[in-house]
Amino acid sequence: MTREKVIPAVPERFILADSNTVRLLSEKADYVLPAGEESKVWARLEEILAAMLGADLSRDSTVVVVGGGVVADVGSLAASLYMRGARLILVPTTLLSMVDAALGGKTGVNFGGYKNLVGTFYPAEEVRIGIGFVESLPEREYRSGLAEVIKTGLLGDEEVVEILESRREAIADRDFEVLEEAVWRCILVKGAVVERDLREGGIRAHLNLGHTFAHALESVQGFGAWTHGEAVAWGIARAMELGVRLGVTEDEHADRVFRLLSQYGFRTELMPDAADSLVAAMRKDKKRQGPTMRFILQRDAQDTVIEEVEAEVIRAMLAGE
Ligand code: GLY
Repeated sequence: MTREKVIPAVPERFILADSNTVRLLSEKADYVLPAGEESKVWARLEEILAAMLGADLSRDSTVVVVGGGVVADVGSLAASLYMRGARLILVPTTLLSMVDAALGGKTGVNFGGYKNLVGTFYPAEEVRIGIGFVESLPEREYRSGLAEVIKTGLLGDEEVVEILESRREAIADRDFEVLEEAVWRCILVKGAVVERDLREGGIRAHLNLGHTFAHALESVQGFGAWTHGEAVAWGIARAMELGVRLGVTEDEHADRVFRLLSQYGFRTELMPDAADSLVAAMRKDKKRQGPTMRFILQRDAQDTVIEEVEAEVIRAMLAGE
């Protein structure tokens, strides 16, 4: 779908963009959220709801959210709350949002120092993908999305992993045809998971491969120092390392994943000095004070398991002991 045709011509629509995506629109946005994680807060949610009320939206109105993961999360939450649920169409403009954030109905804002503490499950009626939007992304933002493509391939589609391995140059050049194939396959993987487990009672947790480590790294290094995707790639590397230590992950699989991550320029090295603070951040993120934490690990590609692991084992692995 081209960028021009991707915004739907539905009646009574409320267009919500962010400060990066507003310039991509040929029409006026009804609310523009400042780009960045700092916008995932209650005050912004309230502002959006007030703007919806000011625009006299009804429950049958359609909220069209154009942008990346942050505006999708906050905008979808607003849509889910307004008059107990307005209609919702998402137009993801980042690669990360196309393959992950816009799919599966998670909405949220950060609250009380916790990421996504307040939120709902509210799948959009439509997710309209215009692959052409990837042209607008800064290089780091684009690569950030590739980390979620890698993750999704590892979880559910060997063909995606092979495309990533064999078409690196085309992917680096943002070749639409190759990307469209990879993105479409990722959508099918995530779609199949959330169809079975929307509320993350089981298999949906697999989508968090690498994310416990990633959230800890983001919080220890300060949000913004690493992109989310860079942190996820680093986290996937740690999940491989942990899996090998525990005898869960095949060595060949871990080697292959490290190669793939390096091929796309992601940092995978240990940061031993940060081991203690990373474990502390994980405990806070998961609100877990007990001796164990749950991790998503892989035996092999497309063979994922959930393991309870002792915090001390995690600390030793992160410290390289
Ligand atoms: N991003 C993980 C999920 O949607 O469950």
